Amino acid sequence: MPRNLIVCLSALATIGSVVAQRPANTSICDYYTTALLTDNSAANQYTLLTLLVNTAVIGNYTEPSNGVLVPGILNPNGVYNGTAVNLLPYFNGCDISTNNDTVFNLTTNPPISQNFLDGGGAVPLMHNLPANDTTSNQYFLLTHLYQYFGVLLGCSKYNTAGFPAYGGVGSMYRVHQYMALDPNEIGYFITQVGLSAASFGVASSDINAVANALFSLFSYKCSPPVTVVPAQGKVLDSICVDSESRHREFLFDQLNGFDVVDLSVFISDSNQLNDIEPHHVLLSDNLVSFSDQDKDQ
Ligand SMILES: *[C@@H]1O[C@H](CO)[C@@H](O)[C@H](O)[C@H]1NC(C)=O
Ligand SMILES: *[C@@H]1O[C@H](CO)[C@@H](O)[C@H](O)[C@H]1NC(C)=O
Ligand SMILES: *[C@@H]1O[C@H](CO)[C@@H](O)[C@H](O)[C@H]1NC(C)=O
Ligand SMILES: *[C@@H]1O[C@H](CO)[C@@H](O)[C@H](O)[C@H]1NC(C)=O
Ligand SMILES: *[C@@H]1O[C@H](CO)[C@@H](O)[C@H](O)[C@H]1NC(C)=O
Ligand SMILES: *[C@@H]1O[C@H](CO)[C@@H](O)[C@H](O)[C@H]1NC(C)=O
Repeated sequence: MPRNLIVCLSALATIGSVVAQRPANTSICDYYTTALLTDNSAANQYTLLTLLVNTAVIGNYTEPSNGVLVPGILNPNGVYNGTAVNLLPYFNGCDISTNNDTVFNLTTNPPISQNFLDGGGAVPLMHNLPANDTTSNQYFLLTHLYQYFGVLLGCSKYNTAGFPAYGGVGSMYRVHQYMALDPNEIGYFITQVGLSAASFGVASSDINAVANALFSLFSYKCSPPVTVVPAQGKVLDSICVDSESRHREFLFDQLNGFDVVDLSVFISDSNQLNDIEPHHVLLSDNLVSFSDQDKDQ
């Protein structure tokens, strides 16, 4: 891994000038693996995803040659569209918001508090690892992110030796259901992914394509099922954004021991999809432009 990083970092110094427009028949993953790490192997594709995800999660842990600063998903002082965002409680166990199964039932499967930073936190990520072990919540979360984004970015070596297939729950909706994330929280997360890519010299056209895909997959309330990971088939993927106030209300009542079952109306359930028209609200003009940061001409 360190060797790859050295190759990567030295490549970063020149990528802005040597990289031409990505050909339409080459995926973002393959193109930037070749540009940054030269050999388009499964291991290097996985390394690219590791660099991209780790940087998005903890913020830039090296100094990018193009000066792009990545605040990081775990940064408690995030800002999106002028609104303060703090995603850290979803990761460090301070929120009771993890779906410990794949079902939605506040009685039989209530949300739990889960620490996803139990594999050494930021330190192993700064060494381009997912965690300091292979059994922590952190290990599974991070490796699942590498794999999932590997699909989204079209890695040709996905699911071959060196690039494991996605091993997590298919439906992002189910995974995030108890979080009732709002548009600013989702926008902040996606922005960190985009900034991370920008810090590695990814062209703004490619970043906007990815941001566009992420927003359209995850942020349109009650979207119908879609296929992202082919082996999973069609699943509900929208994180069904809710308002910040409802989110806080839910957690407040959880923490204070109130009967939360009545609050289930605040959290969209796929069962309701049969009853209501999918309504595409929010974020349609929400695409983030990275042109200020992106120095790749
Ligand atoms: C992409 O297309 C170019 C010609 O336009 C061709 O030379 C190249 O081999 C193709 N690459 C892949 C991965 O198919
Ligand atoms: C992150 O990037 C910013 C902007 O390029 C830089 O000033 C800062 O030193 C970087 N952080 C680390 C830990 O390298
Ligand atoms: C989460 O689910 C696992 C597997 O079913 C179970 O062992 C564990 O106790 C659950 N955690 C909580 C906090 O309920
Ligand atoms: C949740 O589980 C309880 C107990 O099995 C059941 O009575 C209830 O109908 C379930 N709620 C939903 C929304 O499925
Ligand atoms: C990994 O880090 C955790 C803290 O997040 C610590 O409790 C654990 O002992 C560490 N494990 C190893 C193998 O270093
Ligand atoms: C930013 O916030 C303003 C004011 O609330 C809102 O009108 C606009 O749609 C938001 N833009 C984005 C990109 O979220």
